[in-house]
Amino acid sequence: MNHGVDYSRLFRLDNKRAVVVGAGSGLGREAALALVAHGASVICVDRDVVAAEETATLCQRQLGAGGGEALVRAEVLDVTDAAAVAAAPQRFGHPDVLIHTPAMNVRKSILEYSSQEVDSVIDLNLKATFWVLRAFGDSMVQHQRGSIVVLSSIRSRVVEPGQGVYGATKAAVESLVRSAASEFSSHGVRVNAVAPGVVATPLTQQVRDDAEWNQRYISQSAIGRWAQPEELVGALVYLASDAASYVTGSVLTVDGGWTAVDGGTSQAASPKRE
Ligand SMILES: NC(=O)c1ccc[n+]([C@@H]2O[C@H](COP(=O)([O-])OP(=O)(O)OC[C@H]3O[C@@H](n4cnc5c(N)ncnc54)[C@H](O)[C@@H]3O)[C@@H](O)[C@H]2O)c1
Repeated sequence: MNHGVDYSRLFRLDNKRAVVVGAGSGLGREAALALVAHGASVICVDRDVVAAEETATLCQRQLGAGGGEALVRAEVLDVTDAAAVAAAPQRFGHPDVLIHTPAMNVRKSILEYSSQEVDSVIDLNLKATFWVLRAFGDSMVQHQRGSIVVLSSIRSRVVEPGQGVYGATKAAVESLVRSAASEFSSHGVRVNAVAPGVVATPLTQQVRDDAEWNQRYISQSAIGRWAQPEELVGALVYLASDAASYVTGSVLTVDGGWTAVDGGTSQAASPKRE
């Protein structure tokens, strides 16, 4: 019994308006491309307007090839500016879908962190996420519909030396997502997080530039390699779409098995094929 649901359109986002914050790079850029491909109109938002415009151009090019009714544009916004974020939902036309990606990491031991570094990581990763959840949550609650997806990380649960402040902000973001879900969901607004493992984006270039660190990350997951950014978008589209109509307050892990296994899989332990 499917109550008239057309399963072939379960993940479609036609007639939905989406805002992707952090659309200028990495997962935000791929999210914008994927949402447009599923029929959404997308506003590509970033602090870096040139990068946001590049993403919008890539989306337009994709639309040009495949046709479709979706509209795409770029907007500048610094999410650490609480007043600007509060005004954003109206400025962006009260979207149905919000994907929020911006975060930073200063990879230093707790003993080495300066107070200015603590502030900058918390300001972007936690406080700005709060401003965004509050502003867009308010708009969506008023309109009685919406889906918010925030990027967390496996670092909310598993760490290595140097992930202290970043990991703490991601654990806090997941808690914030659960609280927002508890407050918004009965008003038709779902709130979820996606927790990637390690993805080859500019955020993690420092790790890939270090041969030993890079190899350790490769062997840490069950799959035995880095994720490419496009391998994260399925989770984002799913949570944005009506396919996830009963999913709220959840954290969807996309980590190649990193948190499932204890130290990855070595060749020696793998099944032998004769
Ligand atoms: N890349 C990974 O391996 C990885 C792993 C786990 C979690 N994540 C999470 O995924 C999210 C996206 O990561 P990414 O790799 O795509 O990062 P990225 O650095 O490639 O992109 C981040 C984007 O956010 C924008 N941004 C930064 N500060 C901003 C601000 N104040 N206002 C508006 N925009 C701002 C940047 O200009 C950039 O375009 C982050 O939350 C990150 O913690 C990434």
